[in-house]
Amino acid sequence: MDRPDWAPEGIDLTRPSVARAYDYWLGGSHNFAIDRDWARQVLAAVPDLRLMAQANRAFLHRAVRFMVDQGVRQFLDIGSGIPTVGNVHEIAQRAAPGSRVVYVDIDPVAVAHSEQILKGEPGAAVIMADLRQPSAVLTHRATRALLDFDRPVGLLLCSVLHAIPDADDPYGMVRELVKPLPPGSYVAISHGTLDDLVEEADEMTELAGRTTTPITGRPRAEVERFFAGLELVEPGLVWSVLWRPEEPDETFERPGRSGFYAGVARVPG
Ligand SMILES: C[S@@+](CC[C@H](N)C(=O)[O-])C[C@H]1O[C@@H](n2cnc3c(N)ncnc32)[C@H](O)[C@@H]1O
Repeated sequence: MDRPDWAPEGIDLTRPSVARAYDYWLGGSHNFAIDRDWARQVLAAVPDLRLMAQANRAFLHRAVRFMVDQGVRQFLDIGSGIPTVGNVHEIAQRAAPGSRVVYVDIDPVAVAHSEQILKGEPGAAVIMADLRQPSAVLTHRATRALLDFDRPVGLLLCSVLHAIPDADDPYGMVRELVKPLPPGSYVAISHGTLDDLVEEADEMTELAGRTTTPITGRPRAEVERFFAGLELVEPGLVWSVLWRPEEPDETFERPGRSGFYAGVARVPG
């Protein structure tokens, strides 16, 4: 297969990548046939998947704007993906010029594309790192250069924790990432779930197992555990479309079909 200019060498093209499929669902072009085939199979199993991805992305945008309103000016966006529409630094900087963002992703295509977008952008950087090694993210040169951990930080973990199986202790990772955040920092989490996708669950689980990052959809109580020790802001942990919508969302026949739980919490103190 011909490798386009934007694709780094050595990427795994034998298995679909969720990052690149997500890009396809959101209308981007940084994906390969193997990703598109898989993404279409998922769409056949769950026709609303594209809308779910858009609703998750819209939650991320609202969460960033909320954090900016609370005075947050620096963001750590882990599992940032292939930014297609509305990058976090654009949203944050539009609301508060000078805001800083560190993007983190494990996928080389996501990182290569982000590097292109961020050329000449002093307030933002992307690093290739694994959420499963929080200290590598926190101590990375770019993180230390751009983020000041004496001031509030917005930690974004959107649509990524379901890529970490329980055996890898995702709760421990979140604790480690939250530990250095000063009071007044915020954490936004969105998390895929099969709670209201009962009929599609088996096929989804089988399809997810074929990717480079298999997915663990968690029930609500298990997603809420990620916020232990933090103060969830209103309206708490809810379906993505119900988290402070700018107008009532009528995309889905019921909110649970949005497929994602979402919440934002404050670091107390
Ligand atoms: C579905 S995208 C979400 C993008 C964005 N956060 C959003 O909500 O719109 C999930 C991203 O998480 C990344 N990812 C998966 N496992 C990861 C890990 N262990 N460390 C860092 N990133 C990871 C994937 O490569 C992908 O780009």
